[in-house]
Amino acid sequence: MGRRLLGFALLFYALCPISSDFVIEEIRKIQKRSIRKPAADIEVYSIIINSQVTSRFAHNVITSRAVNKANISKEAFFDVDLPKTAFITNFSMIIDGVTYPGVIKEKEAAKKQYEKAVSRGQTAGLVRASGRKTEKFSVSVNVAPESKVTFELVYEEMLKRHLGKYEMFIKVQPKTLVKKYEIEVSIHEPQGIRFLDAQASFLTNDLLPAIKKSFSGEKGHVSFKPTIDQQRSCTNCETTLLKGDFTVSYDVNRESIGNIQVVNGYFVHFFAPHKLSGVPKNVVYVIDRSGSMWGRKIEQTREALIRILNDTSEHDHFNFILFDHTITQWKDSLVKATPENLEEARKFVSMIKPEGLTNINDPVLKAIELLNKAHEDRTVPERSVSMIFLLTDGEANRGESNPSRIQENVKKAIQGRYTLYSLGFGTNVDYPFLEKLALENSGITRRIYEDSDADLQLQGFYNEIANPTLINIEMQYPENAVADLTESNFKHYFEGGEIVVAGRVTDNDLNSFIVDVKADGAEEPKKYTENIPLQMEDDVSKQQKYIFGDFTERLWAYLTIQQLLEKRLYADPSEKANLTAQALELSLKFKFVTPLTSMVVTKPEEKEKEEETLIADKFVEGQDPSQPSAVGHPWQAASYIHSTPTTNFVDSDPHFVINFPQKNDSLCFNIQEEPGQILNLIEDKQSGIAVNGQLIGNKKTANVISNETYFGRIGIVNRQMKIRIEVTTDKITVLNHKNKKMFSWKKTGSISKEGFNLVVNKRSNVTFSFEEGATFVIILHEVWKDHPVHRDFLGFYTLDHHTFSPEVHGLLGQFFHGIDYEISNVHKTDNPYKPDATMKVKNKLLTVTRGVQRDYRKDLRNGIKIPCWFVHFNGKGLIDGTHTDYIVPDIFSISY
Ligand SMILES: *[C@@H]1O[C@H](CO)[C@@H](O)[C@H](O)[C@H]1NC(C)=O
Ligand SMILES: *[C@@H]1O[C@H](CO)[C@@H](O)[C@H](O)[C@H]1NC(C)=O
Ligand SMILES: *[C@@H]1O[C@H](CO)[C@@H](O)[C@H](O)[C@H]1NC(C)=O
Ligand SMILES: *[C@@H]1O[C@H](CO)[C@@H](O)[C@H](O)[C@H]1NC(C)=O
Ligand SMILES: *[C@@H]1O[C@H](CO)[C@@H](O)[C@H](O)[C@H]1NC(C)=O
Ligand SMILES: *[C@@H]1O[C@H](CO)[C@@H](O)[C@H](O)[C@H]1NC(C)=O
Ligand SMILES: *[C@@H]1O[C@H](CO)[C@@H](O)[C@H](O)[C@H]1NC(C)=O
Repeated sequence: MGRRLLGFALLFYALCPISSDFVIEEIRKIQKRSIRKPAADIEVYSIIINSQVTSRFAHNVITSRAVNKANISKEAFFDVDLPKTAFITNFSMIIDGVTYPGVIKEKEAAKKQYEKAVSRGQTAGLVRASGRKTEKFSVSVNVAPESKVTFELVYEEMLKRHLGKYEMFIKVQPKTLVKKYEIEVSIHEPQGIRFLDAQASFLTNDLLPAIKKSFSGEKGHVSFKPTIDQQRSCTNCETTLLKGDFTVSYDVNRESIGNIQVVNGYFVHFFAPHKLSGVPKNVVYVIDRSGSMWGRKIEQTREALIRILNDTSEHDHFNFILFDHTITQWKDSLVKATPENLEEARKFVSMIKPEGLTNINDPVLKAIELLNKAHEDRTVPERSVSMIFLLTDGEANRGESNPSRIQENVKKAIQGRYTLYSLGFGTNVDYPFLEKLALENSGITRRIYEDSDADLQLQGFYNEIANPTLINIEMQYPENAVADLTESNFKHYFEGGEIVVAGRVTDNDLNSFIVDVKADGAEEPKKYTENIPLQMEDDVSKQQKYIFGDFTERLWAYLTIQQLLEKRLYADPSEKANLTAQALELSLKFKFVTPLTSMVVTKPEEKEKEEETLIADKFVEGQDPSQPSAVGHPWQAASYIHSTPTTNFVDSDPHFVINFPQKNDSLCFNIQEEPGQILNLIEDKQSGIAVNGQLIGNKKTANVISNETYFGRIGIVNRQMKIRIEVTTDKITVLNHKNKKMFSWKKTGSISKEGFNLVVNKRSNVTFSFEEGATFVIILHEVWKDHPVHRDFLGFYTLDHHTFSPEVHGLLGQFFHGIDYEISNVHKTDNPYKPDATMKVKNKLLTVTRGVQRDYRKDLRNGIKIPCWFVHFNGKGLIDGTHTDYIVPDIFSISY
């Protein structure tokens, strides 16, 4: 049930009387709700969004009030979209003067409470992903006749400076007209406000003046209080036009390069030097052009790359590596961004064509090699930033495809010298893999949503990192005066950004302390020194009392938790436990809903019913509901399990998958043999049916050495019916007695004769059935015409096999009547999604590894993931005998 909560951002809400997009799924009510009409008797009469920003730290309170005007109980709903970067800190409901507060607990403890509630049929998750930048918090409660309810949600976040401004956004979506609707944003910035703006995506020109904005000195203010008439989508309409994003952006004065705030023993240091010359960049763009990029994705990638090239400064150096399972390199080495080179690059980029599979390891290592060479040969400036910009839309399935090993290889090769930025395009990427790959190499990762603006998202990300002005920044604080520092060394500072460091002042007797900042600039090393007076504390806290006095401490905690959570993603296991413990402790102490904590809300129910427990968790990017959960075993995620009828099959290079419906699980193995060999898949002497497959290899090319094999030809014999069928990637041939009938894959066709049926679905599959009880389907995988490496190949699936006798054998056939196995001792490996386990089968103990294979029947291009226990070494120990025992001399071989 929806207890997977989602991430925050800064948008949000409405108390709404309509049962739309609610998240709470209370089992006993589902049916009733689905037929319920809008409960117009609940009137939301007030929504107030109040944000107070002090030195970039935003404290947001959303209050929504409603009354039930009906003479029976009604349910009131409260939905808020908040930024994924925010942490919820409080939620409460006030009903008839009684407050029902949310309590923040360790996730495991909350989980127990949740499970108990589930067992009583009372369950609910409160948060789910909603937009690119937001997660949605939703709750509903029963309100007695004539009663009032107030919902109050509090969340906090630090506003990050990007491209010269801080931005906070509020999602507006009240759903009905509201008597009192208010957005109030108060900003207090000790450096003084340089500009302030507020925009709403839904506002007409007439209504623009309804947004009031002003700033002067340290204070800024934005308010938006549309009257009921101003909210109407047209005169006399009862619908609201308030639907969209409300964005406040501002920047502070830049007379000084930094600012330090010290309050209650905690300090926050903001550092943003400006007007520096840019440090030249050396960029290798490593771009996925595998087959799945086909269509819009590749077009948008080309467009984004052209725009990026247009924005490239002449002092930069660059090169391109395009990859599928092969690599195409644009130039032998990095070249300077001269107008001629840029022009040539634009041409090159506009020719990118998608094809092939995905090998991520080799192109990234190649990029590192190029950078190494550029530095060794001194063809790039000594003072420069070297980076790899990796874009992919899928998971590695060729070459080194073990994610941990790719990470290891890349980290070893980079040795901290270059930065790797990774971009995951669409939802098929292994986000945690890309994230760790980037974080381990001082970069960051971003998801690019498949949408009409994907090119702008790509370019936008590039812009953020396009202009480094300082490198290797070390912020040095006196050790004897401060403690509990957040991260204080940074690889880059980008124009328009800001470095933030927070810590605790340990020596209360000091009047001041000195901060030294050392960094490398474009032309020379830079050094900045600041003397921080501490006696100012009182003034500051007095001044800021109207905001909130402990903001430095909360900002410090927010930043520390974010950094601990991030480090956890790439720490080794022992370190990870400690980082987790620290982050948990702080989350509980400062009452933040983070990925380690949950908020439990006990909701009052109608009198005769029991209380209901609701849980709010934090959204974690890359763990969407179809992905393995952080708490359960990754391989237990329900949505991973396919819903198509169970089947045994062999597909791809050749992967055998055996289904065990009664165990709700599958086993899988590969067979590695020479091209040309024929393998027996099914043989049943009694029913006289056999199926054999012949292997083909990849095309031989000078630069790809590959010994992958696929089935290129499949023979089916039915001795009793005197039928032989040969399926190749070109055609299907049916031989019956002396008659021969041929079908092309290019046309749909069928025959039906005396218990034998064949249906060809043009360019996708052919189904065969013999009497009742033996049905197979063969799938045609077509690769790109003139593909340099791959040939077309076939996949074989059994849909029904109950006709076969107990003696049926063959690589697939031997499992038709089941096999008993037990899995135990599941344990972690370095790949969190691929645990190992011990499998007991046929009185042997085998080590097996959790893996995923794909069933291509429903989705010919991407396949549907089938989690399975992988048996190593050609299925050794699982299959009878050894795999070579299954080699047969002829495509129609069947023994008597
Ligand atoms: C509640 O109101 C409805 C009309 O809105 C009326 O028909 C009904 O009798 C009322 N019930 C009670 C218990 O007052
Ligand atoms: C949460 O909000 C409620 C209602 O405003 C308040 O009573 C309670 O003290 C708050 N809890 C915390 C931890 O601030
Ligand atoms: C990029 O620059 C080229 C040459 O100056 C120009 O023709 C092209 O329109 C530009 N493309 C974009 C997307 O800005
Ligand atoms: C983490 O480790 C440090 C020492 O390495 C120790 O001082 C600290 O108490 C540990 N923190 C937790 C929460 O376990
Ligand atoms: C099969 O697995 C799914 C997902 O883990 C689960 O929901 C279902 O109850 C399981 N069925 C059986 C028979 O175990
Ligand atoms: C070819 O297959 C063998 C296993 O039979 C494997 O050890 C070897 O690495 C493969 N070679 C290539 C180039 O993939
Ligand atoms: C065969 O192909 C057709 C047409 O593409 C598709 O609708 C059908 O689901 C496929 N059947 C199987 C069993 O794969």
